[in-house]
This record gives sequence, C-alpha cells and structure tokens, in this order.
Amino acid sequence: SLSSLQFLERLDLSFNRLRWLPQDFSRRLSSLQELRLDHNLLQHIDSAALQDSENLRKLDLSYNRIRAMDAKAFTSLSHLNLLNLEGNRLNVLQDGVLSRQQSLEVLLLSHNNISAIESEALAPLRSLTVLGLQGNMLRHIRFKTFLKLQTTRTHLQMSLNPWTCDCELQRVFGKIQYVRHLHVEDYKDIICHSPSQQAGNSLASQDSQLCVLETASVLVITITVMLAVIGTLVKAERNRKNKQLVSEAEAQEKKNDGY
Ligand SMILES: *[C@@H]1O[C@H](CO)[C@@H](O)[C@H](O)[C@H]1NC(C)=O
Repeated sequence: SLSSLQFLERLDLSFNRLRWLPQDFSRRLSSLQELRLDHNLLQHIDSAALQDSENLRKLDLSYNRIRAMDAKAFTSLSHLNLLNLEGNRLNVLQDGVLSRQQSLEVLLLSHNNISAIESEALAPLRSLTVLGLQGNMLRHIRFKTFLKLQTTRTHLQMSLNPWTCDCELQRVFGKIQYVRHLHVEDYKDIICHSPSQQAGNSLASQDSQLCVLETASVLVITITVMLAVIGTLVKAERNRKNKQLVSEAEAQEKKNDGY
C-alpha cells in the first residue's frame, strides 16, 4: 500500500494497532527521513523491515511491545540521528544491534525492562549526546561498558532503576564522574533499592561510606596478618635464644665435669 511513495520523506503511523511490519515494508520508501510508529502493538523488529530506508534520520518506535530486535534490524540505518524505543519490553541491550549507528545522537530506552547492557553494545555510538535509561531494571552497571562511548559529550539518564548500592556501584559512578565526556544528568536522583538498610537513600548522599566497610575489613585483615607474622618471628627468636642458653649451659656442665 505504500509502494508508490518513493519520494515520501515523513510517514506517521503512530497510534494505530500495527502488530508487525512486513519484510518489504520499506522497499519503496527510500526517501523516508522520519518514520513514526509509536503507540502501536509491535512485538519484534524484523531484520528486513527497514532495510531500504537508508536515509532515515528519525525513527520512533516508542510505546510498543518490542521484546527483541533482530541483530540486523538497524544495519541499513547508518544516518539515524534519533532512535526512540521508550516504553517497550526490552530486557537486554545487546552487542551488535547498534553497530552501524555512528551518527546516532539520541537513544531513548527509558521505561523498558533492561537489566543488562552487554559490554560492546555502546561502543559504536560515536555521536551520542543523550542516552536515556531511566525506569529500567538496572541494579549494577560496569564502568568499562560506558567507557567505550567515544564521544565528545554524552548525557546519561539513569534514575528510576532498582540500584543495588554497594561499594562497587559507588566506585563505578565515581569513575564515570571523572570521565570528562560522560555526564550523569540525574545523579542526585539515583536512589538505592537494596540492600534494605540503604533503600530509599540516594547514592549521592552515601558519599564514600559504602566503601568504608570494605576498607575497614581490608585493614583488619592486614593488621591481623602483620601481628601473626610478628608473633611468629618473636617466637622463633625466643626459641633460638633458649636453645643457645641450653647449649651454653650444657657446655659449662661438661667443663665442670671435666674438672
Ligand atoms: C523483565 O526482566 C526479568 C529479568 O530481569 C524477567 O524475569 C521478566 O520476565 C521480564 N518482564 C517482562 C515483562 O519481560
């Protein structure tokens, strides 16, 4: 039904009841720059569905039911500036899904069910300025994953996740703050979900307390080991002296017997 629209630049199909996109959906839509498919019932993005819309700049897939995207779903979209996937059901941000998105500036993934970001998933995004991850299921993140964002300035939005506030998490956010081109926009709103004694507190209000316990236990272990070593040395020295005394006494005795 869209096959005569090869000069069409904007297409708005939002607020419909689309359940899937046919494989040849984009076959004649080669001039398309903006495609709105938000507020539909899409569950999956097939690898072929968007492959001929190579000029696409904006793609809005927000508020659908997308659980998974084919690894090749976006490979033709190398000019994409904005990708909105808010309000879907994604669980994992996978390596390779965004491998051609060097031009992507805005990636909106808030209000999904994302609990993991694979280690290379963000690496291709050289132009990213905004990464929205609010309202997901993130408990922990790895510093290395975010360090792979080789950009000039990226704003990260990370609040409304069930963060596990431990020393490790505090260190990760601490390190991110020292990376000049990364900026956690809503750091003050990073609220701890667990452990229970931290629940409801903001990570920022913990200062460096979460690592104090860890540092203290390292200190205790170090001191214990040192005391044990010193004890052993003292004992060895005492034994040596005792032996010396005994042998001197024996020698003296022999001498006395001789007389
Ligand atoms: C959300 O992710 C969790 C795993 O983190 C999974 O058990 C659950 O089924 C997911 N929910 C939906 C609606 O996909």
